[in-house]
Parts: sequence; C-alpha cells; structure tokens
Amino acid sequence: MDFNQSTDDNLFDRARIVGKPHARIDGALKVTGQAPYAYERHDVAAHQLVGYPLCATIAKGRITHMDATAARAAPGVAAVVTTLDIEPLAQAKSNVARLFGGDTVAHYHQAIAVVVADTLEQARSAAALIEVRYQEEQGVFDLDAAWEQQTPDEPLSDVGDVDAAFKNAAVTLDEVYRTASQSHAMMEPHASIVDWSDGGKMTVWTSNQMIAWTRKALAKTFAIDSDAIRLESPYVGGGFGGKLWLRADTVLAALGSRASGRPVKLALPRPLVFNNATHRSGTVQRLRIAADAEGRITAFDHSAFSHTLPGGSGENPVNQTRAFYAGASRRVAHTAIEMDLPESADMRAPGEASGLAALEIAMDEMAEKLGMDPVEFRILNDTQVDPEDPTKPFSDRHYVECLQKGAADFGWEARNRTPGSQREGQWLIGHGVAGAYRGAPTMDSGARVRLQAGRLVVETDMTDIGTGSYTIIAQTAAEAMGLTLEDVEVRLGNSDYPVSSGSGGQFGAASATAGVYAACLKLQEEIAQRLGMKSPRFEQGRVIAGTTEVALAEVADGEELVAEDTIHFGDFKDTLQIGTFAAHFVEVAVHAHTGEIRVRRMLAVCDAGRILNPVTARSQGIGGMTMGVGSALMEGLTPDVERGFFVNHDLASYEVAVHADIPEQEVIFLDTTDAASTPLKAKGVGELGICGVAAAVANAIYNATGIRVRDYPMTLDRLI
Ligand code: MOS
Repeated sequence: MDFNQSTDDNLFDRARIVGKPHARIDGALKVTGQAPYAYERHDVAAHQLVGYPLCATIAKGRITHMDATAARAAPGVAAVVTTLDIEPLAQAKSNVARLFGGDTVAHYHQAIAVVVADTLEQARSAAALIEVRYQEEQGVFDLDAAWEQQTPDEPLSDVGDVDAAFKNAAVTLDEVYRTASQSHAMMEPHASIVDWSDGGKMTVWTSNQMIAWTRKALAKTFAIDSDAIRLESPYVGGGFGGKLWLRADTVLAALGSRASGRPVKLALPRPLVFNNATHRSGTVQRLRIAADAEGRITAFDHSAFSHTLPGGSGENPVNQTRAFYAGASRRVAHTAIEMDLPESADMRAPGEASGLAALEIAMDEMAEKLGMDPVEFRILNDTQVDPEDPTKPFSDRHYVECLQKGAADFGWEARNRTPGSQREGQWLIGHGVAGAYRGAPTMDSGARVRLQAGRLVVETDMTDIGTGSYTIIAQTAAEAMGLTLEDVEVRLGNSDYPVSSGSGGQFGAASATAGVYAACLKLQEEIAQRLGMKSPRFEQGRVIAGTTEVALAEVADGEELVAEDTIHFGDFKDTLQIGTFAAHFVEVAVHAHTGEIRVRRMLAVCDAGRILNPVTARSQGIGGMTMGVGSALMEGLTPDVERGFFVNHDLASYEVAVHADIPEQEVIFLDTTDAASTPLKAKGVGELGICGVAAAVANAIYNATGIRVRDYPMTLDRLI
C-alpha cells in the first residue's frame, strides 16, 4: 500500500479499540515469567553449551600472543576460539569497530576470545586461564581536552547572516554546555543462543530491536547467505538503541557453536556490557543565541563536539536547533572527534536528547536576560514552518498548546519567580520548564495476517522492546477487521515474518501499525472478492454489504485466508517537517546545606498525533522522563582518560534513576492527529519523553538555588 496524506475521516477517527486504554496483552506472560527471553530459551536447541567472553584489557594496540592451552584442557570446556585463530570478520556498516578476529584492539573490552563449556562457571574460570600479551599504543580518551584543539567541521547548515545578527542583537548569550557519556543500562543484557552446529543453517534466538538489519549484518559478518539465517527476538528486556545492531554476544555464540558443534548461549556479563557494547557519546556544545529587545530570536549558532572511534559518527546534538524555534539566521555544526574510547552509537533520542539538554538551558538563560517568562519566551518564538526553509511547513505542530496547558495544569503562575528565594525549612524550592522536539519519521513496514475460523493471527518481524508493540498491533488489526482484541493473536520478532520497520528512532509504533493495517486491507479485499461483495464493512465479527451479512468465521469454509502487504510512505513527506512536541515542567527541592537534589513533581504535555493506546504511551512518557532525570542528576560514564575505559562499568557505580528518585509524574497527550504521518494519523512517542527533561530539571535547580550549572550530570558537588 502506498501512503499519501490521508486528510479524510477514516476508520481510526471513529475507532472502537485504537486510541482506547488497554493493558498489555503480553503483560500476564511477562509478570508470570512465561515470556521467554533469549537466554531462557531452554525449550529450543537441545544440548546447549554456555559461552563466556574474554575481553581486551587495553584500549588500543595489538595482541602479540595468546595461549589458550590451559583453558582448552580445563574441566567441561568444549571449545575455545581466540581472536588470533581467525581472520578479522567483515564488518557490517553499523559496527564501527570489528566485533572479532585478528590482532588489533580498537577499544577496551573488545572481545578477544570465547570459551564454550558445559556450565557458565566452567567457561568463566577457563577464560581466566587464557594468557594474553599486548603491545599497547597511546590512545586519545579525553573529550574535554580534545575539543578546544579541534578544528570544527564545516557547518551542517548556515542560513541568513549569523554574524550580522549577533552584531545587531539587543541581547545575546554565549555559553558552553556538557553532556556526559551514557549507558543504555537496559535490564536484560545482550544475550543470544546460536545454533550453527553444522556450519550450515544458523538459527539465532536473541534480544534485538531490528530483525532484518541484524540478519543482514550476520550474513555479511560471516559471509553467508541471509536465507541460511533464522532469527527470533520475540521479547526484549529493554534496548534503548543498544540492541539496534549486531553485537558481540551473537557473534561469539555463533563462533562457539561452529567450533563446538553444539548450540551455544552467551550473555554479556554486566561489567562487560559498558565497554564492550555501545554507549551514547558525551558532548561539549557551544551555544550562542541572539534576540531583539522584544525577545524575538534573530540567530542561533550551535557548535558541538562528540567522540567516536575512527569511522563513526558520534552524537550529533545540533539538529533540533535547526527547526525548533523561529529566527532568520542560524548556523549549526557538529564535529565527531575520533578518539579511542569504546564504541559510541545510538541511545534513546540520539542527538536530540543531548542537544535539547543544552538548548533548553540556553533558552532559559535567554528568557532571564530578556526579563521574560520562559514559557512566554518560547511561545513568542514558536514557528509553524521550518525556519531554514519556510516553504516547508510543519504538518501538525501544537507546541504552544503544550506550553499553555502545561503551565495551567502545573500551576506555573504560582511558581518561585526569583531564583534562590523560596524555602521550605532547609530545602530550596525551584520550578523549571523546557521544551521538547523530536522528529516523527516512518519506515516501510510489512505484515501478514491469517484468518482462521474467525480468529486473526498477525505476523510481522516487528519487535516489542517493552514498548507495547504487541498490544497496539492487536488493537489495529482488531479495529480494521471488526474483531475484538481477544480474537487477535500477534506474533512478532521472527525473520520468517514480513520485514517491518523494527523498533528504533521513534518510528516503530507508527510504521508497524500502518503495515498491519495495510495487510488487513489486503485481507478485506480478498474476503470481499470471495463473497462477491462491493466495499463491505467489517463490524462485530461480520462482513456486511447492504442487507447481506456473513460471519468472518464462515467466509472461508474452514480454510485459512492469508494476506500480506507492506506500507510504503510517499515522497510527499520530504516537503514537510513531521515532528512531535512536548513541554516539561519540573519542581525540585535542593538542600541548602548538602546540595542534595530531589525532584518533587513532573508534568509533560505532549503533542504526538493520535495516541494508539494511552496506557502504553503514558509508560513511554514516564519511562523517558525517568531516563531524563537520570541524565540530569546521575547518569554519566566516567572515562579513565589515561587508560581509555569507562570506570563505572556496572550498575552499582553507573547510577540510573530508581523509584525512590521519582515522585509524582504526569503525562498529558493533546488530542491531535497528523494526517501526514500514517493512515492511523499517529506518530511515535518513544523518544519524545526523554527530550528536554534534563534541561527542565536543570532550570528548576537554577530557579531553586540561583546557581547555573551547565554540565551534566548535576551531582550535588556542582552546587557546593
Ligand atoms: Mo533508538 S536510539 O533508534 O533505539
């Protein structure tokens, strides 16, 4: 199905099931422990062995010697594969450093051997017996030292006359902001079971966001045919971008399986996840804003630096600055500095979260310089067109309503107006606001539907990474076919199913439901043809045309009817800016003597098109907000700038926000639809929730204390 804007009223404008709150249909399986995660697949691939990775303890250099004799002779060991045993594996485009093979070490904790044994304990203790000698090289590990020496890359865009705007401005700002490197810290670490025991067909049970990409990456890595690979990832215990790509767990399990002739399961031990897998790169961002005396922004100049292994792209935080606010002149540049820290890649709202963490503090600072309310300042500088290309409108943008509704519901009028002036005993109270803007892309997405005796089975390789895909897909199919939610079974995360968008970039929910809808329309056509009906309606388990009605259970005489389709999104999207928006309001208390920071109240008002399921969408919102509190107050990978690894590589020292850090949180979705997005007029919400949150917390801290912190995370030592 080719999708072009659907401005007409459609089925989903009169929806019975889509848009209504429904608990997750997979919820019971999950809370009763019956949803099988990759490492727990005892039901597949008999006689599994266990793999354990050995990882490099230098950040850069060569391995000159490895001796695995003792490991191979250790109890229970079935196979050992060292990186010197095989040629460097081909790299899929998405992997910046090779995942295995050869003598080069490109980053700390790069995998250099896998030991396969009967038990985890045997594999782990044997891995410790492998002798490794290195020739170490000096690497570059300190972003803060590197960025000032670096010549910035050419601007990504440069419109208007930025220099003149600054010269003529009534008010200007020029500050430097820093965001920390962050780890996805998903509950379930990277884990795979691979059966490649005969070196022919490869079957993979894994935890991955993108079935089709990963299958392709595996084919390239091992130079085998895609068709020889089958992948399953029906349940994923969190991804946040860390499981978008093929990682070492799958590669090592495959090598171990081939070498041992048995299926092998392998999970990255938590302390190896941080430096072996990917992380969000830290950034240093210089931001300048110019405005006239009335508070109208005339120019932005945003120049950012992040780090990457050679060949990668780093964390680009300047894109939101290009289109969030009005202003005739703007220049943005991002320079990815090639360094030797572990591999940086996507993490929830990659770029957007880091960029808005800086931009939305800068907006607060500008409002203060102008003597304006920060909500009013943002409203004044709203834009309904792409400021870099005014011929390109936003398809549907209600940022101003987000700010207005948020201010009203939060009680913004009654806030502390003078920084450092509101106290409750020993606690200083502050209020902050920040905006959020995240694009709403869509990707072609396919699905297959099977009608069996009035029940519908949906099959797509879409994943559910904790987001609610199972549920919104069931809702979509039930709506389209006139069935109940209970009549629909959803099967996800399997390479035998049609290729979907997968879960990433906030495109999953909107794209995958559109693909399922397309497949349902195909099935409807087939049913209509069989019954000789013209444009029938599908309601209450029946097909209806005029006075004729047939129960769906009876349309196929006991046969199964199967239909498959893929939604393709038209080029018209290039002529529009399609985005999601939010306003975040936060109240904090800061202890006047210890600097302890407590978030007390959070409110997000979001504009993200039709909300497919308010329950699962709210969970995305509060999940993102919680992660935003982590970014603001605690999350930060600390590089050892001498030895080139992240020191806090476990969940005891890499702190994430937990329940006790999060008091009252509310998420309001505006009742909007975006006809340019999908037939369901829906947009994604998975990454919007984290955008802007850190700055709202930062602005509240400033309001509480009068101390302006521009470096994340804002630990209490920065306040005293
Ligand atoms: Mo997302 S960072 O594309 O999973």
